[in-house]
Amino acid sequence: MKLLSKLDPRRLNGKTVLLRIDLNVEPGMPIDSYRVAGVLPTIKLLRKAGATVVILSHRGRPTLPPDKKRTGRSADWTQFSENRGLSLRPFATLLSTKLSSPVRFLAYEEMHSHKLREQVRIKGGVVLFENLRFHPGEERDDAKFAKFLAKLGDLYVNDAFAVSHRANASVHALTKLLPSYAGLRLERELAALAAVLGRVVHPVTLIIGGAKVADKIGMVERFGKTADHILLAGGPANTFFSASKLPVGDSVVDVESLPFAKKNLKNPKVVLPVDVKVHARRILDVGERTVALFAEIVERSGTIVWNGPLGLFEQRTYAHGTMGLWQAIARNRKAVTVVGGGETIASLALVPDLKLPQNVFLSTGGGAMLEFLAGKKLPGIQALK
Ligand code: 3PG
Repeated sequence: MKLLSKLDPRRLNGKTVLLRIDLNVEPGMPIDSYRVAGVLPTIKLLRKAGATVVILSHRGRPTLPPDKKRTGRSADWTQFSENRGLSLRPFATLLSTKLSSPVRFLAYEEMHSHKLREQVRIKGGVVLFENLRFHPGEERDDAKFAKFLAKLGDLYVNDAFAVSHRANASVHALTKLLPSYAGLRLERELAALAAVLGRVVHPVTLIIGGAKVADKIGMVERFGKTADHILLAGGPANTFFSASKLPVGDSVVDVESLPFAKKNLKNPKVVLPVDVKVHARRILDVGERTVALFAEIVERSGTIVWNGPLGLFEQRTYAHGTMGLWQAIARNRKAVTVVGGGETIASLALVPDLKLPQNVFLSTGGGAMLEFLAGKKLPGIQALK
């Protein structure tokens, strides 16, 4: 793997580096995240070496109304109301504060300027582009879009472990066009996760919660051989409930994953919540007995992997399950523990006095972390080899 840490800094002087990071945060959630803190050392290294830094990132999953999808009029992406909360603009201010130096934000419209190259290549400057997923080519791993980006820089650095499981243009196609390196945070993630894979201690417990059901539910089979216990909550658990014909009202369920859940209903490793908290026909948290059950399994585990909160923790009333799990994790001082995902790490703020022991590694990746630990090759990582 080509590592930025091994690159002679003189080769960065006067160069423009396209730096892919992951700033993905749900609208309305605090933007000052663990992920932002994680990439600051890479940005500082690049600036110290005399490089201009062009930051590329995404936020959420922008959508277009069906009629626009057909015409492919990409300029409408920022206008569509559902995408309004997905701008990266607030991050320019945040990054400026963190770096004690101005970070210029380049709005979507400005990215079409014929002077873009000059606007971007300001010696020693830092520029943040608007959400790349406003461009249809990003998620399609489009070679033309990658070429458009590549023309703006001399080198490429991936410090976005969290999105390295996506073959998106700024993660994958771009690496074919510029000398490409893994950033400092990505290097740290890969070393820590490889160490986990290198010494798996049983019993192994996998905990999956949160809302991205389709992305995560497959882990029940992927971890099928390694894991001894698979604890489900949130959307994945609701989908299992629904598959076993239990009433779930208007709770988050992934209808397309129902056949998978049905097939795995008798999986003896799967542990579902035994009680839940419901409001307005929606399951919003696990109950007290489930917290106790999950905590007991976690506390006697040798390896723990957790992604996805157990409830709607943003509302204090439904944060009990997630808080209880953090406390159980902190009590197990021996297990090799990896916790990851934007929301999951954000939920750590619920327990500010909790002292996490040394054995807990906080990963910036959610889906990426699960896929890596399940042994899948991530396109963004393979591309750097
Ligand atoms: C994440 O938050 O897991 C990454 O940013 C990937 O986001 P995605 O699941 O929308 O591709």
